[in-house]
Amino acid sequence: MSLKGKKIVLGITGSIAAYKAAYLTRALIRKGSEVQVVMTPAGKEFITPVTLSALTGKPVVSEFFTANDGTWHSHVDLGLWADAMIIAPATASTIGKMANGIADNMLITTYLSMKAPVFIAPAMDLDMYAHPSTQRNINTLKSFKNHIIEPATGFLASKLEGKGRMEEPDEIIKQLEIFFSKGDSLSKKKVLITAGPTYEKLDPVRYIGNYSSGKMGFALAEACASRGADVVLITGPVNLSVKHSSIQRINVESADQMYQKVTGIFQDMDVAILCAAVADYKPVVFSKNKIKRKEKEPMLIELTPNPDIAATLGKIKKKGQIIAGFALETDNEEENASGKLKKKNLDFIVLNSMNDSGAGFKTDTNKITILFPDNSKKDFPLKSKTDVANDIVDEIEQLLIQ
Ligand code: PMT
Repeated sequence: MSLKGKKIVLGITGSIAAYKAAYLTRALIRKGSEVQVVMTPAGKEFITPVTLSALTGKPVVSEFFTANDGTWHSHVDLGLWADAMIIAPATASTIGKMANGIADNMLITTYLSMKAPVFIAPAMDLDMYAHPSTQRNINTLKSFKNHIIEPATGFLASKLEGKGRMEEPDEIIKQLEIFFSKGDSLSKKKVLITAGPTYEKLDPVRYIGNYSSGKMGFALAEACASRGADVVLITGPVNLSVKHSSIQRINVESADQMYQKVTGIFQDMDVAILCAAVADYKPVVFSKNKIKRKEKEPMLIELTPNPDIAATLGKIKKKGQIIAGFALETDNEEENASGKLKKKNLDFIVLNSMNDSGAGFKTDTNKITILFPDNSKKDFPLKSKTDVANDIVDEIEQLLIQ
């Protein structure tokens, strides 16, 4: 729905993944978008302009002018016309030229003239993608506020397997839809998010931890970044990667490390969403050597409390800063969550219960109730963590405009 009437410049470069551009073009048109294809000379070796002009109903632009009559193709006009530019597939070569302003083809001049947001879907071999030169160029494009649609991991044209496959057209469309449906409502806002578990070391091979996968916190980071926020995501050990270019990820392991990073930057933040499952206790002693098993004696571990990150932020919070916390409960859910909301001076708390199937740790879904300081509450049905994240960010937006 949100792509209806949108004017999209689709840039296609010389990659085997160019065949997916035909599906992407058709899907955009089905969504009601108007598509203008711009191809590099190498792109035309992989998919013919005839296919794409038949799908879009417009001649494909590839050269600076038409050879037989000298008609000039204005990249400046395309830059003003578009609501978004997507470069899919984007080769290492095109990414390098974009990062360094090497305007030797129509696609790059169009990119350099583009006033609309630019989405880039890299496609290349895993080693090319991992090369420091490619990564440096991608980071440069991120610093220009371009949106990188991370490649997927899978089988590549080279017969190798790894990260480098252009993301599927349906996923590219989904990311565009999220961008257009949410707009830039959090633009210029700085949002801090904690995610995942913390690990509290016992000895070199063991730790005390919990089952948090980071999925809820990462979904929140993507939701905030999609609405234009600059996000700092401070995460415990998880097996996830960030997609949006406006997310700065900081990895930590223990509650103490998370505490240091969070309190170090909180004063510059507009919003903090504390989704991490922080260990409440850590071992008093870290044994440098692996603790040996004793057959007959029980093992006793003395624990001491970790700093409470949420409560610390609640104490130093300035007027205008918003803090949202989470509570994962097993019993007396609302009473316990409401107690944490007040004790930690939060603006609202998101309750999820281990008693609801599909909610809490590790699942792709969650079922939440949001509790407010005036004792009001909002119940939500079971939804994907992406949708839950958007519900939570809607609440934050409401508080920001009050
Ligand atoms: O990561 P997933 O697998 O997707 O799972 C998501 C989740 C279940 C971890 C998440 O939805 C969630 O509920 N996170 C908070 C879990 C929790 O530890 O709640 P708590 O009741 O112990 O803590 C209350 C609040 O204080 C939380 O915002 C927590 O981040 C914060 N806290 C707790 C302890 C501490 N030392 N410092 C804190 O900041």
